Amino acid sequence: MAVNSDWTTFANEAFRLSLVRAKDDKASLTTREAYEGFHPTFTYPIYGEDEKLYGYKDLIIDLKFASGSLAQYLHVSYLDKLPSTSTVDDVEGMLAKFIPEGYHTSLPDFEAQVESDALSFKPMGHKIHAYSRPANTGAGAASSVDGEATEDERAQSLLEDTVEFEVYHCTWNTPGFREFHRRVQLFILLYIEGGSYISEEEDSWEFVVLYERRRRRSDPNIATYHFVGYSSLYPFYCFPEKVRLRLSQFVILPPYQQEGHGSALYTAIYNYVLKQPNVAELTVEDPAEAFEDLRDRNDLKMLLTHERFMHEAFGDEADGHSLTHHGNGKGKAKARKAMMGPPVEKFWLE
Ligand code: ACO
Repeated sequence: MAVNSDWTTFANEAFRLSLVRAKDDKASLTTREAYEGFHPTFTYPIYGEDEKLYGYKDLIIDLKFASGSLAQYLHVSYLDKLPSTSTVDDVEGMLAKFIPEGYHTSLPDFEAQVESDALSFKPMGHKIHAYSRPANTGAGAASSVDGEATEDERAQSLLEDTVEFEVYHCTWNTPGFREFHRRVQLFILLYIEGGSYISEEEDSWEFVVLYERRRRRSDPNIATYHFVGYSSLYPFYCFPEKVRLRLSQFVILPPYQQEGHGSALYTAIYNYVLKQPNVAELTVEDPAEAFEDLRDRNDLKMLLTHERFMHEAFGDEADGHSLTHHGNGKGKAKARKAMMGPPVEKFWLE
């Protein structure tokens, strides 16, 4: 229970987030795909350093997002509240400062918008990458938790062999993106330690957004899009006439974590950057440990498929071999030496 007898509530437990799909799209989900009722990792930017709220019993902060457009619904409920005094926290008012005005407070209205957005919402910007996953593993899994597929799930797996994911590049000038970003940025506060909102006055920000793309069960010709995660990037001047792109914020929402989507988004950004002749480097701002792991794993994977790197690391021995096929310790030592030299980004991009 999130409340103790002194009327104090742990905000992270009271806070419940949901990504809500239209009825038809919900029906195509399997029992293990739970997008509702997950918690934030941090609430201190909103509710203060100790992440505690005072004055309520059985407090629930219910913040729902339409899964694609991220239209919001906020409802604060509780079993009991102390008489309003200056010490009782204004739970809704404190959160409202961090989300755009005009969020829904009526559930039927919100649900109506979820239904209409499911049909009308399409990703903004320019598609830079797409990949798919088998529908029977990870996101899109067509089996229930205990491995016994229900009849509905079996029917859906026949309909969908794969679930698709698409990555879009946007800037502030992308029509509709500024408003979308105002709804999405709360996830930075809730999931990145030390994360803060970026300024809309700074024109140069770039964004890369990852969506899940599903075919509608009732009409497979209709595609619906569901937000998975995103990253913001800022271009800095790089002597003499190039740009150093700094990855500033990067988040994959909890229902999609640990399924390789972070790696896929990072790799999509990396490959996009490689194709931009004006970008000399891709750097990362103050990476969290989990992100450093993700980056190291993926940079190494990319290096091992890179002909020039393999050649410099292994010389002639590298030709026609991958590291895993290489039993020679000398070659591995050379590979390590090569990786200790120039920064990985520069090695790639120069
Ligand atoms: N099935 C199961 N596990 C898998 C699969 C799969 N198909 N694919 C990869 N994994 C494993 C990976 O091996 C990895 O394992 P490890 O943790 O033991 O090393 C783990 O899942 C994570 O890899 P991904 O799935 O590719 O990454 P994920 O999608 O979980 O994203 C991230 C990682 C971005 C850190 C995410 O957890 C997140 O958004 N966290 C909160 C916000 C955050 O910390 N952001 C980074 C801040 S730093 C910055 O912004 C610059």
